[in-house]
Amino acid sequence: LAGLLRPRDFDGVAVTITAGPTREALDPVRFLSNHSSGKMGFALAAAARARGARVRLVAGPVALDTPVGIERIDVESAEQMLESVLAGPGDLFIGCAAVADYRPGLPAAEKIKKQEARITLELERNPDILAAVAGLAQRPFAVGFAAETQDLVVNARNKLRNKHLDLIAANLVGERAEGRGFNSDYNALHVIWEGGDDALPLMRKSELAHRLLDRVRARMPNGEK
Ligand code: CTP
Ligand code: CA
Repeated sequence: LAGLLRPRDFDGVAVTITAGPTREALDPVRFLSNHSSGKMGFALAAAARARGARVRLVAGPVALDTPVGIERIDVESAEQMLESVLAGPGDLFIGCAAVADYRPGLPAAEKIKKQEARITLELERNPDILAAVAGLAQRPFAVGFAAETQDLVVNARNKLRNKHLDLIAANLVGERAEGRGFNSDYNALHVIWEGGDDALPLMRKSELAHRLLDRVRARMPNGEK
């Protein structure tokens, strides 16, 4: 019933969302990754769809069903995620994925054998997908997430500025984030933009997604509809 009462305020808006972790191959059987269930990104995809958007969901490996009426593109690595995103960044881009910041420079062609007592991994910086999208000449309205273990608002505001975002949703992760974040169905967000901010208290990610879209809609120029 709630779905019927939602406003159709994203009618005709092309929304691209990244969700879940990425996997960076070490060898044919191993990878580096991040904690991320993908639940927040999938909730945003479902919420945007319910409000009339055309949604492309670029997802890393997650164990979630695809929301009805959404185009889902499955990827593994950050580089694959970047390529899929740039193929259609939309009018509104929401970077919700926990992208691995680094990848093994050259994955081993064969399984690494446990010969040595100690080995060293050399890692290369991955491209920043969100910053790349926000830097496009024809840029969509760019929304990021910030996962922080401390100084939530200060760190998130720095990311907003450094990546030239329109809005950022900051959430606490790690030990201080009990009962929310990774794998939980609940989260709390601090929504920040140039000149303002708004705290969204702990609630279901499905509801939080709508509250975040309310903030996006209020700040997104109507011309981008
Ligand atoms: N992000 C991205 N591509 C990357 C890294 C991050 O698109 N290679 C996006 C995330 O999806 C998120 C935002 O950038 O929307 C912030 O991610 P976060 O890990 O909090 O910040 P980083 O910029 O990676 O900085 P750091 O990890 O050092 O805090
Ligand atoms: Ca990061």
